[in-house]
Parts: sequence; structure tokens; C-alpha cells
Amino acid sequence: MPTINDTSAFFSAALRQPGVIGAIAPSGPVLAGTLASVVPMRDKPFVAELGPGTGPVSRAIGRRLPPGGRHLAVEIDPELADRLELLCPDIEVLRGDAAELGPLLDGVGVARVDAVVSGLPWSLFPEAQQRAILGQVCRVLAPGAGFSTFAYRFSTPTPGGRRFRALLHEHFEEVVVSRTIWRNFPPALVYLCRRPFDA
Ligand SMILES: C[S@@+](CC[C@H](N)C(=O)[O-])C[C@H]1O[C@@H](n2cnc3c(N)ncnc32)[C@H](O)[C@@H]1O
Repeated sequence: MPTINDTSAFFSAALRQPGVIGAIAPSGPVLAGTLASVVPMRDKPFVAELGPGTGPVSRAIGRRLPPGGRHLAVEIDPELADRLELLCPDIEVLRGDAAELGPLLDGVGVARVDAVVSGLPWSLFPEAQQRAILGQVCRVLAPGAGFSTFAYRFSTPTPGGRRFRALLHEHFEEVVVSRTIWRNFPPALVYLCRRPFDA
């Protein structure tokens, strides 16, 4: 569960940059755990997280990640990035735009990752930005690696929500849609994707 400090950090970021945060509240534990389910639990996997915010999904990733794994989190909001780095020293925080995922990972000597977990507010992004980020995700996924992301249930029938789902099918051979996670505010669903077409 988010702490009072998490919630206040989230709201102050949302007030500072409403067009970047794109959520009413941090993800709840069931949503966070479902998103983290693509993280391998064996060997020493590399995981990229996009938009960690106050870290609810980061903590779910940390619970799965075996010793020796690397958790690289790309956060565009400088204050949230500083906070995450302070509170979660095991996470390598990369400050920047998820649309630069490949170059950001190159900068820390990582070419491919074993999972990408996204907390990004896709419905706020124009199509060009959605395509740019998905292209980078496909570029960095190792063979067999999974990509997870979420959408609020209310947003899925909107034109932006439908366009995003179509883009996932355009980029991935396999797109599995979870049941609605009602125990989240707002209710959400998770897309679990594998085998990018242009890998
Ligand atoms: C909806 S919040 C989700 C936060 C957290 N993952 C959660 O589930 O509670 C979106 C997060 O994505 C970050 N973000 C938005 N656009 C981004 C971008 N282009 N690159 C990296 N991070 C971005 C925001 O700053 C914010 O932390």
C-alpha cells in the first residue's frame, strides 16, 4: 500500500506536471504485482521500468528480481527521480524520456533487457510519441523477453485507448489482456506482450 509520503509526493508531481503524470493515484498492489509478472525470477535478469513515479511497481519488481539482477528505471520528472534514487538505492535511476530508452540504456552499458515494465500514461501521448516509445521497447527486448503495461478501464473504449491497443497488436505477435483489476483505483487492466515483430 502507498504510504502517506508516497501519496503526497504523487499529488505534488501531478499538480506540477498534470500532463506527464496522467493518473489519479499510484498503482495499487494487485496492479503492481500483475505488471511485475513479466520479470524473470531466475538468473540475473536486466529489467527496464518506464515511469516509476513514487515506486509502487518498482517495489513489486524488486520483490521478484533475483540477486544479481539489474533494475533500470527511466523517469522524466526530476523530483520523482531524485526521490526514487534516495528511497530505493538498488534501482539505477535514468533521468530522461522513455522515447530515448535505447540511448539511455546504452549509456549504462546495457544493450538488451529481459523485461520492460511500463507505468506510463499512454493515453496522454500523441500517436507519434506512443510509436516512438514502443519502437524503443521493441528495440531493447531480448529474445523471449516480455513487456507489460496498463490502461485504466474507463480509457479503453476511448479513441486513444483503442488506438493504443491497436498499436500494441501492430508491434507484438502476442498481446494478452488481463481481466479487469477492480481492486485498483481506478480499475485497470494489464497488457502482457511478447515477440516484437521488428526485433
Ligand atoms: C501514471 S504515473 C505512474 C507511476 C507509477 N508507475 C505507478 O504505477 O503508480 C506515470 C509516470 O510516468 C512518468 N512519465 C511520464 N512520461 C514519461 C516519459 N516520456 N518518460 C519517462 N517517464 C515518464 C511520470 O513522471 C510518472 O512518474
